Amino acid sequence: MVSAGVLRRNQFRVLRLTPEHFRTVVIQVPLTQCIITLYKLRKVILAEQSSSTKSLAGDGRPGAPLAPWTYSNSELFELEYTEFFLKRWQFVGHVNDVVGIGDYITADIGRDNVFVVRGKDEELRAFLNVCRHRASRILEGAGTCRGVIRCPYHGWTYQFDGSLMAIPQQDDFPDIDRADYGLRAVQLEVFNGLIFIRVAGSGRSVAEQFSHTADFFEKYDVANYEQIAPSTAEIWDVNWKVAWDNYLENYHIAIGHPGLQRMLIEDSEADDLSSGVSYGIFVFKDMPSKVEEERRYQELLQHADYRLPDDLKGKWVQFGLAPNLGLDLYPEMLDLFRLVPLAPDKTMIHAAYYGHKNPTPEEMELRRLNIQINERVNEEDRQLCTRVQQGLSTYRYRPGPLSQQETTIFNFHEMLRKKLPVMSLEREPGEGLVAVENDAMQKQG
Ligand code: FES
Ligand SMILES: [Fe+2]
Repeated sequence: MVSAGVLRRNQFRVLRLTPEHFRTVVIQVPLTQCIITLYKLRKVILAEQSSSTKSLAGDGRPGAPLAPWTYSNSELFELEYTEFFLKRWQFVGHVNDVVGIGDYITADIGRDNVFVVRGKDEELRAFLNVCRHRASRILEGAGTCRGVIRCPYHGWTYQFDGSLMAIPQQDDFPDIDRADYGLRAVQLEVFNGLIFIRVAGSGRSVAEQFSHTADFFEKYDVANYEQIAPSTAEIWDVNWKVAWDNYLENYHIAIGHPGLQRMLIEDSEADDLSSGVSYGIFVFKDMPSKVEEERRYQELLQHADYRLPDDLKGKWVQFGLAPNLGLDLYPEMLDLFRLVPLAPDKTMIHAAYYGHKNPTPEEMELRRLNIQINERVNEEDRQLCTRVQQGLSTYRYRPGPLSQQETTIFNFHEMLRKKLPVMSLEREPGEGLVAVENDAMQKQG
């Protein structure tokens, strides 16, 4: 499944740049030159990261990652869910999943579920997937609503714009004003055909977050993609941060992913645009893999290059939208994986696959091989992450130092600690005190 993307992304050493780094580079050179320049700047940047790390560690030790308690505390999990999921853009599908009037898709964010439906005016709208009467979930999976959206419990019906249209036996609801009981709308944005929703909060749009890299999506023509394989969902017995930590670092690749190690160049250039979006470019090794499916993929890849400009031929481009979405652009397809937090120790990994309409036979074979290769990588990651989750609850465990290849983990943790300062505590607050301590620390600044 997709989360193969989790692994693939780890092929890169991802650098965290400040806005000053990026502004300097972008003003002076076009994007392809920018990538080269960034690569040359790597040592300087890493040195800066290293020094900043020393002054920012959560428990006073240089480069300390989050304390183990943060990976299992249920009160913290609630705070995280609001701050890092409900208030952040979540990918839910592609405009070509909802082409006709009444077509809908649903998506889990965590305990919340949303749906997107195309209205009679052909506009897409997103709503919390809950009936205003007695809270029944209204829609499941994906499909088409015929004329109205009908709750399966008592039959309240809603228009595609979310307004409450009819109530069976309405005489038994004296004085009800239907205008008060429309569906709850959530924010929706389409970026290169990809549909994102945000349940709460405000801030930068998806387009603003991807502003420095949007041309990648245009070059691949993502706006015109369609779904090419069924979406998948798999539950890992891990805290969501264990999965994202793993996604962010490439230190484990050589040992944990022998297939990727056979196919990929270990240390290709990559960057992070300090906008919540990071990306890396991945290049294949010249030596053919000794494993047939990997070798076949390497051989066929040139046949999918004809759609791409020279600078992207034969490459994988991989994006991460913190804290839970990976997007992998391949010559033959796009895959997306999204982490859905279910409980402090349970995370659902959603995967979706999109690609050009009318693929050639070679592109179809590449897609099949790619998904197969990455399903194995994904399972390797699931096992690695599960071991970490188990180990984090070990008696008196304290995290070890981070490698420079794991700097992105530190930076991710710093972002978390900045938003929820209670996460910088080394010791777990007492029961019922996580939110209290967090509020107090926020007030202290
Ligand atoms: S819960 Fe939806 S109609 Fe009653
Ligand atoms: Fe991995």
